[in-house]
Amino acid sequence: MERTLILVKPDAMQRGLAGEILSRFERRGLRIIGLRLLQVDDALAKRHYGMHEGKPFFDGLVSYICASPIIAAVLEGTNAINAARQTMGATNPVQAAPGTIRGDLGIEIGRNLVHGSDAPESAEREIGLFFGDGGLAPWERSIDRWVFE
Ligand code: RTP
Ligand code: MG
Repeated sequence: MERTLILVKPDAMQRGLAGEILSRFERRGLRIIGLRLLQVDDALAKRHYGMHEGKPFFDGLVSYICASPIIAAVLEGTNAINAARQTMGATNPVQAAPGTIRGDLGIEIGRNLVHGSDAPESAEREIGLFFGDGGLAPWERSIDRWVFE
């Protein structure tokens, strides 16, 4: 079992695609164990995207993720990080395969609808940034045991 952090980015929120995007992860078999609507501020944006500091698109990326309320979700499942990245599609929607979120719903690299952690260390760091104060509800004691095992 693995966990990953997903962000439904401002373009998806503005276009009314949040439900569709979360639904695709759910239908894939990833379970939502954390869900939060929040307005990202400049400091959180810079920490979240810190690995891109100095790149030409960094300032635009930071201001974009702060442009509207977004949804942060923690998803759990087998190989959740890679499974979610595959469901999202390639970073540039033009190269993303049809059937993926980015391949079906986007066209601009700077407006690619969704973020997903890219490695176990990033997932741990990012979940800490968005859910460091709690708010996760793992399913261990729920009916899910009988559904999935
Ligand atoms: P994300 O972090 O948002 O999930 O996206 P990603 O892993 O697929 O891509 P990453 O390399 O981490 O880049 C973060 C975001 O920066 C924007 N970007 N623009 N103009 C460019 O060449 C460029 N490259 C990256 C994208 O919006 C990407 O999601
Ligand atoms: Mg990334």
